[in-house]
Amino acid sequence: MSKRAAVTSQIMDIEGEVLSTSLGSYFPIVWDQAAGSKVWDVEGNEYIDLTCGICVTSLGHCHPRVTSAVSRQLQDLVFCYEFPHPNRSRYAQRLLDTLPFDEGRVLFKSTGGEAIDTSMLLAQFETGRNEFIAYHGAFHGATFGALALTGERKYKEGYFLGQRVHFVPYPYCYRCPLGQSFPGCDLRCADLVAHAIEYASTGSIAALVAEPMQSSAGVIIPPAGYWTRVREILDQHDILLIFDEIQTGFARTGRFYGFEHYSVVPDIIVLSKAIANGLPMSVVAARSDLLAHWGPDAHSSTFGGNPLACAAGLAVLDTIASEDIVGRSQEIERIIQDHLRPLANLSSVGDIRGLGALWGVEFVSDRATREPAPTTVAEIRQDLQEAGILTVNGGVHGNMIRVLPALTIDFDLLHQTLTTFTSIVGEHGEYRIGRDEGDMPDAEIRVPA
Ligand SMILES: Cc1ncc(COP(=O)(O)O)c(C=O)c1O
Repeated sequence: MSKRAAVTSQIMDIEGEVLSTSLGSYFPIVWDQAAGSKVWDVEGNEYIDLTCGICVTSLGHCHPRVTSAVSRQLQDLVFCYEFPHPNRSRYAQRLLDTLPFDEGRVLFKSTGGEAIDTSMLLAQFETGRNEFIAYHGAFHGATFGALALTGERKYKEGYFLGQRVHFVPYPYCYRCPLGQSFPGCDLRCADLVAHAIEYASTGSIAALVAEPMQSSAGVIIPPAGYWTRVREILDQHDILLIFDEIQTGFARTGRFYGFEHYSVVPDIIVLSKAIANGLPMSVVAARSDLLAHWGPDAHSSTFGGNPLACAAGLAVLDTIASEDIVGRSQEIERIIQDHLRPLANLSSVGDIRGLGALWGVEFVSDRATREPAPTTVAEIRQDLQEAGILTVNGGVHGNMIRVLPALTIDFDLLHQTLTTFTSIVGEHGEYRIGRDEGDMPDAEIRVPA
């Protein structure tokens, strides 16, 4: 073993001994440095990052503007508890300019799960009700409230989670829980929300919590009209709509927020991950009337809205505007779609879905039965890593490879990386017709109408 490889294995061994066994099991790479879309490990190997730490470093690692804003702030003021400071007021105003509320307010937290819990408390406090609706496959964090909303058993097994949550199937058209197909289905799955309210609940539902598109559960993009129908149902019962935009927000899907692809406006929006490009920061944003009733000292947090996180947040907003990051996300969508399209002819590929810079390829062992193929995903990701490309998996069956490049990625680099990506994926299956054929059925690349 080389000296450098020995460093990797030593660090892996220590982590294996002293860290909780609950952490994700990633491939054995020990990160050393990162810049833009590139990562270097302690052995000096270079990788292209198609994960962004799951939609966190969306402006690329160590974006110079964010780094210098944070460095400057480190010299001036790191922490001031809840005392007002210029960054916090400026950031809150700038953030509200991006949000859909005529009049809105924000509450700062540090992590996604924490902000989700806060949104649940807010919904309970404002409605005087205590139940929630959430979705199969949902992941909203590992805190007590967020975990109760989680629609995946592996995250919940072994706990008593208290909250009363009614789960409904997400509109996952490729594996429609009702065996229907869109648009002939007439969005029957949305009616299951009405069923949960009318038959499963005690009539005390405070809010429905959802990602506008489920990311980790498999880049699942609800068909056109779905959220409008759900919003109508919720309005009939005065139930709040909370959108978790922690992965889909901040230009990831080709619009500033994921919900902008649909004609709905939620009551509460939860943000985190990309908003500070790697620093811990989260936000609960809501219509003013919802965030104006908690009394003084009723709800705050030690690190929420600290000067460093707000400096990073402001630099992120400046960069999104000055580098036309929303426009770049749309161009990235075109590039990814062009590269991935031929994979729709591959025997091991069941479906390809995406928007902006949020894409996933779903692998199956049999296209007819749609049997998920998580082992194929593990093999391909290993090959990709050996070729210097880092990816993350997805899907409740673990049978998806997600493609989540930085929104600042150089387009030539993206083309090169995707050429390698599709060539490696192509080795794990048979092309039914030529890999360069462009005449794939539309249904095999899903973007909302
Ligand atoms: C959609 C979504 N919501 C919430 C969370 C929880 O965020 P955190 O890990 O910062 O608590 C995550 C984390 O992956 C997420 O993907």
